[in-house]
Amino acid sequence: MVAKVLALTTAKKARSRLVGSNTHQHVQLTDFDPLDPATAANPYPYYRALLAGERVHYNPKRDVYILSRYSDVRDAARNHDVLSSASGVTFSQGSPPFLPTSDQPAHTRMRKQLAPGLSRGALETWRPLVDELAREVVGRLLAQTPADVVSTVATPMTMRTITNVLGVAGGDAAAFARLSNQAIRITEVNFSTQGLVSLMQGITGFRKLRALFTHRRDNGLLKNSTVLGQLTALAEQGRLSDSELSLFAVLLMVAGYETSANMISTLFLTLANFPDQLELLAQRPELIPSAIEEQLRFMSPVQNICRTTRVDYRVGDAVIPAGSLVLLAWGAANRDPRQFDDPDVFRADRNSAGHLAFGSGIHACPGAQLARMEGQAVLREIVEHIERIDVLEPPAWTTNANLRGLTRLKVAVTPRVTATSLSPV
Ligand code: HEM
Repeated sequence: MVAKVLALTTAKKARSRLVGSNTHQHVQLTDFDPLDPATAANPYPYYRALLAGERVHYNPKRDVYILSRYSDVRDAARNHDVLSSASGVTFSQGSPPFLPTSDQPAHTRMRKQLAPGLSRGALETWRPLVDELAREVVGRLLAQTPADVVSTVATPMTMRTITNVLGVAGGDAAAFARLSNQAIRITEVNFSTQGLVSLMQGITGFRKLRALFTHRRDNGLLKNSTVLGQLTALAEQGRLSDSELSLFAVLLMVAGYETSANMISTLFLTLANFPDQLELLAQRPELIPSAIEEQLRFMSPVQNICRTTRVDYRVGDAVIPAGSLVLLAWGAANRDPRQFDDPDVFRADRNSAGHLAFGSGIHACPGAQLARMEGQAVLREIVEHIERIDVLEPPAWTTNANLRGLTRLKVAVTPRVTATSLSPV
């Protein structure tokens, strides 16, 4: 696998030298580089520049075309016939062919197997657990304040939810989270020594997560009511291959944890920065679902994803040549003033419907309902029990090129005093 990734990256570098010599009409050059950790930590000044410029940008250093406007990003995501996922959807080209890195018809076949386990009805059965976890983790934050939101709330909430839903719960949530963080490095391949170290760590994390799943499956420990229990049954009927099944297991563990944890950790930061909105939610708790959509728009946990053009792809007057890597910048599109008024302001009562935080088209996130359920449950607990959130240290951000969230957020929370909390017991 390492050899394949390196071979593809070498081919891409060679192409980069050729393409770099072309002149691009109506394509604006940019040094916006999601692989730069400083940019990944705060991409917003770049997004404003991209959104104010041409419809298509090109970064010669990374040999990548960038789409940032809402309508261009949405249209590209829906144009899966021309913009392929099969060469990989992160900067680390050459990922194994699987659900996110496949095109139709293989994609349709695999996606169908996932549908029953993540259907609205199936997910509803997990709601009591999700609500209970939210009560527990927000309660712990209140008891321990000041505390780090990532380790106290975001990680246990999302890791325990996803491991239960998948059917691999029982281990140490923090250890699972470390493995997932390690596995995600597989998406960060580059030619530096650090890049190779990251890749090796990614592969190790991936293998350990896969072993966790196969151990449970081989010992009959997967319940039929869980997503992996259902997928295992489908594999036994020949509807999924063995390797597809273990790829599903790892993909769902990583995709289901990292992104949702980012949504929850950044939610605390937003509410600390917009205390009036926390107050508004306390007055109008019916806005909680729309506040979660707004948070996903405002601080999208997946900032971008890549595609490769099969043929020349026209965007307005610009043409992106066949065989090019194209970045769909969800994070920028969700801040496009053409689509959202005052996009850099968080408004709990905004109608953010249509935001692109979960993508669009055939690859749109199948876990969106679960993520929403988790976000809403945590926000309900915050609104009910917390009056004020103060950030005590500068937040520490992840440096992944695609996923954006916090690695540490130390806060002090002030409990909300209500008539019930004052009444004698
Ligand atoms: C706030 C949380 C989440 C966000 C922001 C998010 C975002 C996304 C986005 C943007 C995509 C589209 C990728 C593309 O177009 O290539 C995606 C795909 C995917 N997500 Fe999520 N996701 C979240 C939670 C989850 C959860 C909880 C699960 C699992 C239960 C999950 C599983 C997946 C899978 C399997 C795919 C690949 C779908 C395909 O290629 O057909 N995600 N997600």
